[in-house]
Amino acid sequence: MKQIDVGVRSRLASLARDQARSFEQLGSPFYAVLFGSVADDIEEGGPCAALLAPYVDVPFGATLGTRLLGGVHRLVLEGEADDLAKHYPSVDGDGDAGAAWPKFRELVAMRSEELEPYLQRAPQTNEVGRSAALAVGFLRIAATTGRPLRLLEIGSSAGLNLRFDRYYYSDGDFSFGDPRSPVRFVDLWDGSIPDFDADCVVAERRGCDTNPVDPTAEDGRLTLLSYVWPDQRERFDMLRHALDVAQDFPAIVDRAEAAEWLERRLAERRDRATTVVFHSVVWGYLEESEQARVWELLDSAGAQATADAPLAWLRLEPTAYTEHAELWCTTWPGADERMLATSGFHLGRVNCMGS
Ligand SMILES: C[S@@+](CC[C@H](N)C(=O)[O-])C[C@H]1O[C@@H](n2cnc3c(N)ncnc32)[C@H](O)[C@@H]1O
Repeated sequence: MKQIDVGVRSRLASLARDQARSFEQLGSPFYAVLFGSVADDIEEGGPCAALLAPYVDVPFGATLGTRLLGGVHRLVLEGEADDLAKHYPSVDGDGDAGAAWPKFRELVAMRSEELEPYLQRAPQTNEVGRSAALAVGFLRIAATTGRPLRLLEIGSSAGLNLRFDRYYYSDGDFSFGDPRSPVRFVDLWDGSIPDFDADCVVAERRGCDTNPVDPTAEDGRLTLLSYVWPDQRERFDMLRHALDVAQDFPAIVDRAEAAEWLERRLAERRDRATTVVFHSVVWGYLEESEQARVWELLDSAGAQATADAPLAWLRLEPTAYTEHAELWCTTWPGADERMLATSGFHLGRVNCMGS
């Protein structure tokens, strides 16, 4: 086996230990243990050191763990790694990360060429659990503007949240959405109850992404599933269900940069509908100049909004100082801005503010 410089090994191992800790903190004990073993293997100059050494100084170092684990998970999901699959909870394995490790190490040693492309590819995710928070905003916008919604999403990934009205939401006696939907959000809201009785109709939906994923193609499905942590079974199953809904319910996601796409879309004015520009966990990916351009576009479209053609900007984004996401909404005419809710980043509880 190729000798890897001890300094490189030590830097990589420290990166891997940080990532193992963050898997633990973010709720994947399975990956925390597995990646702790990856860190040990790197220190000992094993196959993980050989595979990861060329990436020691890349700017995307913080996602190296997700890239490697996503590549291996994909082989598991494709039925290409049966020994390892026995331990992956996503395919009904026993979740024993200690028992998985020797097989994981062997796979890295034997199939590094197959894993290489995953190290170079940015992880792609689409978190359908965010619909539980976003729906609070869509319902509020529908209730206050009284118009059908025209949805414009930037950074849509596969567009799963563009289909939020195809899912089912219920809290006690209140509900919204498609009661037959396999994607079900039940009793997740604290604080005030969302406007479940609003007349919330989606007239039009369209999104954009620089790297869209086709949820109706096997490759797109596997891409998204492979980046969900295998021991977060509820999240994994919800994504599978949302991918099934997407098969039956198409939505266009254009390959485009957010600002130039939004400029074109906002130039097509719609009367008797509320145009809702929205995004979740996207803002931080935009260059500052693109963020500024989006602000300008919204300001100028807001200035032209009327009661018959209102505009809303709904965003669910991380904050700099807290460990949760905040859901903010601005509506025009009037530039009324308020925080509607806070939530986690994946499937989980949503804390709603009063109106
Ligand atoms: C963390 S993902 C979030 C995806 C989705 N909004 C969700 O909540 O699951 C960020 C997405 O933003 C996209 N993205 C990054 N920069 C972009 C840009 N300048 N314009 C449009 N999309 C962009 C990425 O390709 C990726 O799909």
